[in-house]
Amino acid sequence: MAKKGRVFSGIRPTGRAHLGNYLGAIQNYVALQDDYECVYCIVDLHALTTVEDTENLRQNTHEMALDLLAAGIRPQETILFVQSHVPEVTELHMILSMVTPLGKLTDLPTFKEKVRQQPDNVNYGLVGYPVLMTADIVLYKADVVPVGIDQAPHIEFARETVRSFNYRYNTHVLIEPQMKNTPVLKVLGIDGKEKMSKSLNNHIELAATPEETTKRVREMVTDPARIKRTDPGNPDICNVFTMHKIFSPQSDVDMVNVECRRAGIGCVECKVLLAKNLNKHLEPLRAKRAEYASKPDLVMDILNDGAKRARVIAQKTMEEVRAAVQLP
Ligand code: TYM
Repeated sequence: MAKKGRVFSGIRPTGRAHLGNYLGAIQNYVALQDDYECVYCIVDLHALTTVEDTENLRQNTHEMALDLLAAGIRPQETILFVQSHVPEVTELHMILSMVTPLGKLTDLPTFKEKVRQQPDNVNYGLVGYPVLMTADIVLYKADVVPVGIDQAPHIEFARETVRSFNYRYNTHVLIEPQMKNTPVLKVLGIDGKEKMSKSLNNHIELAATPEETTKRVREMVTDPARIKRTDPGNPDICNVFTMHKIFSPQSDVDMVNVECRRAGIGCVECKVLLAKNLNKHLEPLRAKRAEYASKPDLVMDILNDGAKRARVIAQKTMEEVRAAVQLP
């Protein structure tokens, strides 16, 4: 069947994937494979902007590959690779930086957030992060980019950069990408307040054991107004209920919706039920992950093969880019 176009997305190997990555992006990575030619990248160079101690970078890259394969990335059809294995991206990053006003980068909310998070490590790579991300996307001429809503400023930046490049060099070589979100735009962490992320340690890993998952779910913050077991709760503002709506059968969702409001069910009971349903949902993924984990050479082969296929596309784009820029 003819595909509708090309999809690209990237994920940082900062550790194992968590429910935020999964619900915000990875589920879409998997679904889009049916209709699009997909290219998915573990962005180790991007990880360097925040990770100073690189001792675990290789292991984390491997772990992320396991998570993606376990979630349902099909490496025969989809290209799955590691960013630094296709060095053309760094050349394109450099060329795109010439059409990027510095102020635009330092004004981005994502940059300001990083400055707050790591004031002692505001490195040049951090400023150029969205330029490298744009290079990722346009190197593979992606039409569609599945990401969580936190990446929206970067996709808008990429679109503007494509326009600036094509205008300055009077070309149509680069394609303006479209952002694609999942129904869950922003997954909250177990604190029920902030975006789920590893750096805030408010995350639940896909590959955690059922026991670890249950422990993490039991730590989830619920409706703060519900102090005593006998207080009625408000599921509409409770992150546990949000998760029930994603992972639990409709009968459990309906029951929680009614019983929480009249204190018929306590928060602990509600969370244990969620943990049970979440573990059930993740069971096949974890089994598949264990299978891949037992074959590290196969995973390496998949990533090497992915890089080879990615590089064919990348080299062709770079030939066109160099010609457009009139690099001798
Ligand atoms: P990263 O590694 O932070 O996150 C990977 C994907 O997971 C999504 N995500 C979330 N979605 C909803 N709720 C959350 N709590 C949550 N946490 C993470 C992110 O939106 C993202 O889609 N800059 C990118 C990596 C990147 C990239 C690219 C993406 C590099 N080059 C090119 C697309 C195209 C990032 O930081 O992802």
